[in-house]
Amino acid sequence: KDMYGDRQNSLGRDYSQAADRESHARALELVDREKLTSGPIVGGKLRAGIDAQNVTNPFDRSQVLGHVSEAATADIDAAVEAAAEAQVVWDRQGGAKRAVVLRAMADALEADLDRLVALLSREAGKTLNDGVAEVREAADFCRYYALLAERDFTAPQTLKGPTGETNQLFLHGRGVFACISPWNFPLAIFTGQIAAALAAGNAVLAKPAEQTPLIAAEAVRLYHKAGLNPDLLALVPGRGETVGAALVTHPGIDGVAFTGGTDTAAAINRSIAARPGAIIPFIAETGGLNGMFIDTTALKEQVIDDVIQSAFGSAGQRCSALRVLYVPRDSGEALIEGLKGALAVQTVADPADPKTDIGPVIDPESRRALEAHVERLSKEAKIIARADLPLGAEKGDLFAPTIAEIPTPDFLEREVFGPILHIYRYAPSDLKSVAGKLAARGYGLTLGIHSRIEAFADEVVDLVPAGNVYVNRSITGAVVGVQPFGGEGLSGTGPKAGGPNSLIRYAAEKAISVNI
Ligand code: NAD
Ligand code: ALA
Repeated sequence: KDMYGDRQNSLGRDYSQAADRESHARALELVDREKLTSGPIVGGKLRAGIDAQNVTNPFDRSQVLGHVSEAATADIDAAVEAAAEAQVVWDRQGGAKRAVVLRAMADALEADLDRLVALLSREAGKTLNDGVAEVREAADFCRYYALLAERDFTAPQTLKGPTGETNQLFLHGRGVFACISPWNFPLAIFTGQIAAALAAGNAVLAKPAEQTPLIAAEAVRLYHKAGLNPDLLALVPGRGETVGAALVTHPGIDGVAFTGGTDTAAAINRSIAARPGAIIPFIAETGGLNGMFIDTTALKEQVIDDVIQSAFGSAGQRCSALRVLYVPRDSGEALIEGLKGALAVQTVADPADPKTDIGPVIDPESRRALEAHVERLSKEAKIIARADLPLGAEKGDLFAPTIAEIPTPDFLEREVFGPILHIYRYAPSDLKSVAGKLAARGYGLTLGIHSRIEAFADEVVDLVPAGNVYVNRSITGAVVGVQPFGGEGLSGTGPKAGGPNSLIRYAAEKAISVNI
C-alpha cells in the first residue's frame, strides 16, 4: 500500500512460458503481415500528409514494416483548431471523468500487449523483456495519472481565510499541449506524456520520434478506442526540424512537454522564448552522463549483475543507463575480469528472439557515432572487451557492446548513447575530485553506488547531482509511482514522470475568493 491505498502496477507477461511464447510468435507474424500506416491523425482520421517514407526494422533493414507520412502545416493547423475547441469541454469535465478514459486506455494497452511487444521489437529493436516492461509502464502512467486527476482536479482545495469569505484553489488545464517524444521509449514515454497532459485537462498534439511512428499511431488509435474524443489527441509525425519546430512555435500551443536530447531541449527552449507574445511552460526530460561509484566493501557478484543490466540492458539506449563505472584503483581487477566474463555471455541478436539479451541500436547514424567513439577509445583509452556479433549482423544496426578503461575522470564530455561502458579506476583519496569532475559536466540524471558503508553512499550523493539515486542495485528501470523519474541540471526541468507532482506544470492554478 502507498499514499493511494491499494494501487497496483501493471503485471505484464512472462515469455518464458510456452503458451505466452506462442502468442508472441503469432503477434510477430501479424505485425510482419500488417504493413501498418502512420501519418497525421486528426479528428481520428488518417490524413495523407506529405513526404511518405518506409519504416524498417533496425535488426534487418530489408524488412519494411509500414509507411509514414509527415504532417503538413495544414494538418497541424487543423489539429490545433479541433483540439482547442474540444479542450474546453474536457477541462470542465473534471479529473474523475478523465480518469475513466485513462484507465480504459491502460486496459486497452494490456489487452493488446502481445502485438505491441512484437511491434516494439520490430520497429524499435526492443527485446521481449524490454517490450513487456514498456507496455506495462505505459499502462502504469495512465492509471497513475488517473489517480492524480481524481486527487487534484476533481474538487478545489479549500483555504482558510477571514470570516465571511470563501477561498478555493482550482487546478485546470492550460489548453493545447505539444508532446514531443524520443524513439527509445516509443510507447511508454509517448503514452505517458499524453496521459499527463490529458489528466490535467489539456488537449494534445503528439509528435513521435522519426524512427518510431508506427507504434505511436497504434497508441493514438488505442486512446481513441478507449473512449477519448479524437479531437483531443492528434498525431503529427515528422522530422524535428520541420514538424517539431513548427509545433513549438505555433501560436495555438499552450505548453510543450519534451523528452529527448539535451541539445534539442536547449534549441526548443530558445524557439519558445523567441515566440512573439507568448509565455508557455516547457517541460524537458533530457540526457545524462550517469556514473556508478564502487568501494571496496561492494559485493562483486551483485555489482557485476547490476552493471551489466545498467550499461547494456536495452542496448544502453536508456537515458538512465550507466556510462562510467568508478572502481577503486587497487582492488578493481577481479571486478573488471568478472565484467568481461559477463559481457562475453550476452547474446547480441534479433530482439524478437526470446533468447536475445541485446538488440540493435536504433539507426545507422547512431551505430556510426558509436563506432566513431570506439575508434577514439582505441586510440586514447583502452578497449577491455567487445561482445561478439552474429553472422549477418551487417543487414541491420547491431553494434558490439564494449567495455573500455578511460585514462582520466573527465574523458567523457557528454552522453554517449549506446552499449559502451567506460571504467575509471580512482584512488579512494581522490574521490572528491573525481566525483567533482563528473558533477562539473552539469548533468544530473541517475547515480549508482555500491557499498556497505552508509557514509560512503552519503558522500557520493552529496558530490554528484542526480534526480534518481540507486544504492546497491541497477540504475535503470524506474517504476511508475515507485521511483518517480527525472533529472536536474542539463538532464531536465522536472517535474518527474510517474510521481505525485507530475501534473503540476501541465496545469494552471486559479484561486477564487468570494465575499459572502
Ligand atoms: P532527440 O532530441 O534527437 O529527439 C527527441 C524528439 O525531439 C524527437 O521527436 C525529435 O523529432 C524532436 N526534435 C528534434 N529536433 C527538434 C526541434 N528543433 N524542435 C522540436 N522537436 C525536435 O532525442 P532522441 O535521439 O529521440 O532520444 C534520445 C535522447 O533522449 C537521449 O539523449 C536520452 O538521454 C534522452 N531521453 C531522456 C529521457 C528522460 O526521461 N530524461 C528519457 C528517454 C530519452
Ligand atoms: N525511466 C527509464 C528508466 O528508469 C528511463 O530506465
